Amino acid sequence: MPRILGIETSCDETSASVLSGTGDDVKLESLVILSQDVHKVFGGVVPEIASRAHLTSIVPVVNRALVDASVDIGSIDAIAVTAAPGLIGALLVGVCYAKSLAFTRGIPVIGVHHMEGHLFATSLEHVDAVPPFTGLLVSGGHTLLLDVEAWGQYRLLGATRDDAAGEAFDKVAKLLGLPYPGGRHVETLAREGDPTRFRFSRPMVRRNDSPDSDDYYQFSFSGLKTAVLNAVRDSDIEADKRDIARGFQDALIGSLVEKTYRAAKAYGRTRVVLGGGVACNKTLATAMRERMSEIGATVFAPTPRLATDNAAMIARAGLFHFERGERSDLDLNAFASQPIPGLIAA
Ligand code: KG4
Ligand code: ZN
Repeated sequence: MPRILGIETSCDETSASVLSGTGDDVKLESLVILSQDVHKVFGGVVPEIASRAHLTSIVPVVNRALVDASVDIGSIDAIAVTAAPGLIGALLVGVCYAKSLAFTRGIPVIGVHHMEGHLFATSLEHVDAVPPFTGLLVSGGHTLLLDVEAWGQYRLLGATRDDAAGEAFDKVAKLLGLPYPGGRHVETLAREGDPTRFRFSRPMVRRNDSPDSDDYYQFSFSGLKTAVLNAVRDSDIEADKRDIARGFQDALIGSLVEKTYRAAKAYGRTRVVLGGGVACNKTLATAMRERMSEIGATVFAPTPRLATDNAAMIARAGLFHFERGERSDLDLNAFASQPIPGLIAA
């Protein structure tokens, strides 16, 4: 059974993981995630600081993952590393380290697309979160709606035209005076909010939308953020922040749920898989389950450890490519943006 070491350094988590198995029958042997708390001081990720922090921690994080799995590097068959998309300097730390380690050990290195990793993450916790399914990936940098016919065969149905879902949560959190990253703080506030006081329209959802329209599956969150900004300006923020958070979250989740429902229905899928940091949001999972019950589809959401950035998902996607005989060359490079691999016509 192949054993993969996964490495993730695309943003502000230095993570390593050991995973073994074949096909969908995999065993997570270890997962170490070191979050860079330093960025909280700046209200957002500072790329140069992120790269330097990865440099400092990558060796102990990888060693710790090997120790936790009770294996030594000699029993690793391949190294999977996030090569795109992400912060270029941060990605380069992982890619250079992975290539050097692979070269010295004489084992292959496999470059993994970060969002394909998020797509695999939920299957590490739920054996039924496997294709075919409708996938909704909602992170700080991306919002992707995919029809997943099989692993490695993805129909990209929708993406965001502007801000990502997590980015919208973080920006609204800032407007409401909450710490970074703000998604979970907005969710907590919204729980106590009155849903009737601030009603924002669900972005890109109209009553008579037709499947032929260009934005049937698309997202856009910057208009909603501006609407929240205007509401904040006209309000007593201390008194109204819970209600504003609630109105914002209802509109954003309403849009995510509606588009995902359309996709699952159109492609006849009975499984919906959520991934990415925003998939930590319990209100999203609950709303998604409620709507999907109309078409008898089951919704799978990862726990926070696997929803946010982690190397287990990179090792899992790496195993898939390894088993298909795919290897990266030692000139593997990092890219700040890159389309998800395996795209097929929608
Ligand atoms: O996937 P992720 O860890 O990093 C990226 O690849 O971007 O996602 C981080 C994002 C942040 O924007 C954060 O605010 C959001 O996930 N997030 C949440 C929640 N927990 C994390 N958004 C909404 N509700 C939450 N409970
Ligand atoms: Zn991510």
